[in-house]
Amino acid sequence: MKLTASLSLVIAMLLAANAGAVDFKKDVLPVLNQKCSECHSASKKVKGKFDIGKPGDYAKHVKAGQPDISGIVLNVTADDSDDSVMPPKGKNRMTPPQIAALKQWIQDGASFTGGGAAPPAASAGGAPTAGTSPTALKWTNTAGASIEATFEGLEGSDFVLLKVVSTGIVHKVPLASLSPESQTLAKNGGK
Ligand code: HEC
Repeated sequence: MKLTASLSLVIAMLLAANAGAVDFKKDVLPVLNQKCSECHSASKKVKGKFDIGKPGDYAKHVKAGQPDISGIVLNVTADDSDDSVMPPKGKNRMTPPQIAALKQWIQDGASFTGGGAAPPAASAGGAPTAGTSPTALKWTNTAGASIEATFEGLEGSDFVLLKVVSTGIVHKVPLASLSPESQTLAKNGGK
């Protein structure tokens, strides 16, 4: 868990997150549904024990923060003639912008819960494994920038620990940097 008390960094994060981080459900899953579901979804076939509707199935193929060594990226960028290329034989490949979005999502921490709604369920039976994570809430700072993050606790009476949804990174945020509403939310334990 990375902690930082740097206010400017947190504000930069707030702005960066606003600038449109890659969202798994909006930007990645629809592409996988289109290109991969024929062989990787519970409603059809699940080849290679990889079901795109199960967050838990990504663990082996996605290294959060490290797209270039993530198996799924190696699979979708392999040559057409490579045995490991996905889809097999390079048919119906992901396009370069789609691959860029996949890589960015991994770079950003490979979170399945961007937006804070239900985890992805690409297919019937694709029960999410995310489980008990707290609800994502909207936090606003004194400058009016807002971000989706889960409440992870208070530290002393001056700091709140917020886990930014788009990155999965926990930040130690000074309460004084938040809007009065967000300060109240923090003091009430995120409720
Ligand atoms: C026509 C069927 C088919 C399609 C479409 C397909 N795959 Fe696969 N995939 C397979 C098969 C078969 C395996 C198992 C290969 C093996 O075990 O050697 C596999 C295995 C995998 C694995 C596991 C690889 C490993 O090293 O264990 C990943 C990850 C994967 N596919 C990702 C994808 C992605 C991403 C897409 C879409 C862009 C996709 N696949 C599309 C048939 C398919």
